[in-house]
Amino acid sequence: MKILIKNAKVVLPEQVRESAILIEDSKILDVDASDSASADEVVDASGQWLIPGVVDDQVHFREPGLTHKEDLHHATRACAKGGVTSFLEMPNTIPNTVTQTELDRKLETASKSCLVNYGFYIGATPSNVDDLKHAKRTPGIKIFIGSSTGNLLVDEQSALEKIFRETTLSICAHCEDESTVRSNLKKHAGSTDVSTHSLVRDHEAALVATKRAIALANEYQHHFHVLHVSTGQEVDACLVNRSQYITAEVCPHHLFFNFDDYERLGSLIKMNPSVKYFEDNQRLWQALLEGDIDIIATDHAPHTIEEKKLPYPDCPSGLPAVENSLALLLNQVHQGECSIQQVVQWMCTRPAEIWKLKNKGKIAVGYDADLVLVDPNLKQTVSNETQQTKCQWSPWAGEELMGWPVTTWVMGQKVYQWTEQEPQFAESPVGCEIEFEKTAS
Ligand code: DOR
Repeated sequence: MKILIKNAKVVLPEQVRESAILIEDSKILDVDASDSASADEVVDASGQWLIPGVVDDQVHFREPGLTHKEDLHHATRACAKGGVTSFLEMPNTIPNTVTQTELDRKLETASKSCLVNYGFYIGATPSNVDDLKHAKRTPGIKIFIGSSTGNLLVDEQSALEKIFRETTLSICAHCEDESTVRSNLKKHAGSTDVSTHSLVRDHEAALVATKRAIALANEYQHHFHVLHVSTGQEVDACLVNRSQYITAEVCPHHLFFNFDDYERLGSLIKMNPSVKYFEDNQRLWQALLEGDIDIIATDHAPHTIEEKKLPYPDCPSGLPAVENSLALLLNQVHQGECSIQQVVQWMCTRPAEIWKLKNKGKIAVGYDADLVLVDPNLKQTVSNETQQTKCQWSPWAGEELMGWPVTTWVMGQKVYQWTEQEPQFAESPVGCEIEFEKTAS
């Protein structure tokens, strides 16, 4: 099966230019095809941009164990709609993904239910270093250095040292310092105001834990990816002039929401790490533009609206985002805050490089045909009713964004088509297991 996509402005690795792209089966066959090349299907993409599919390296899709909140079927429809063609999922499901057996089980379930490509981290516990050492079919190790949703936690120094010393897979971590959070909790005990969350999980908690993890990575010369950087202090103290072992990411909610938004959005923006201040939003954006933060990922962490509406402190932390993250950034392009090439670097190319995804993240001959057509002039308002995520709400509901994905292909198969009426999705689970260049040795 050959598909010719012509007349689009194509975001290629070195430049953006009009070009015809020819796909054969699951691969990109030509990036400079003739407009009249023979194909089974021809797509006229005039006025649209063609980009590589988004690689989201931090999502919580809740299957197994928490499927009343989300599942792979709904989550990957949301991905397809949002232009996310590959995801890497976190281990705080039930049971936790902390053994090869659980990892293989997740991969097996995913092969029957995912519209987009899938990969799963293995989670660290204080005692599973042997599992971490020999893990296969995974991008890397996730450590909760601070606790969040679920019961995964490794905060003893000796256990952390052992993981950094004895394993070879890349490591990423949730960095919020447990003892700082616990002592803040005591200070604010009894508060029912949700903005207290940002005082409990404060700047200090994030900074202390991020510094600690980076020190371990440097000492053991181990690749470490800082998940969801939330403060300007982490950028200044840890990421400017960082070593070759460190990469970092920021999430849309830490770029676009801050303390003042609790008044409007309440517990919908209760997240770990918490949202911080306007100055942090600004510093994080600057760090992205200057290359001190490498990528954007969502930390898509759905909970039902009933759970989120519980009074503080019982409302859980987390919000859904895979469906809107690319549109949020395309809107930034529209506003002149960044370029489409930068968005592709942050959301497609660099995440694929950091986690060593084979043949993904670029529009290049021989790469997988994970592609997204974007209409930069399509204006739409985010609405809860149209969300594909099982939890059916978005903290961005009501926001009008300019620039949306309109067609998504995964391994050469169309999985999503925007229409004025109902969006169309592929029926069968066409997503494939992601292959990684680096495995545990
Ligand atoms: O707010 C969060 N929720 N942060 C995390 O790191 C985990 C996530 C979840 O799984 O709910």
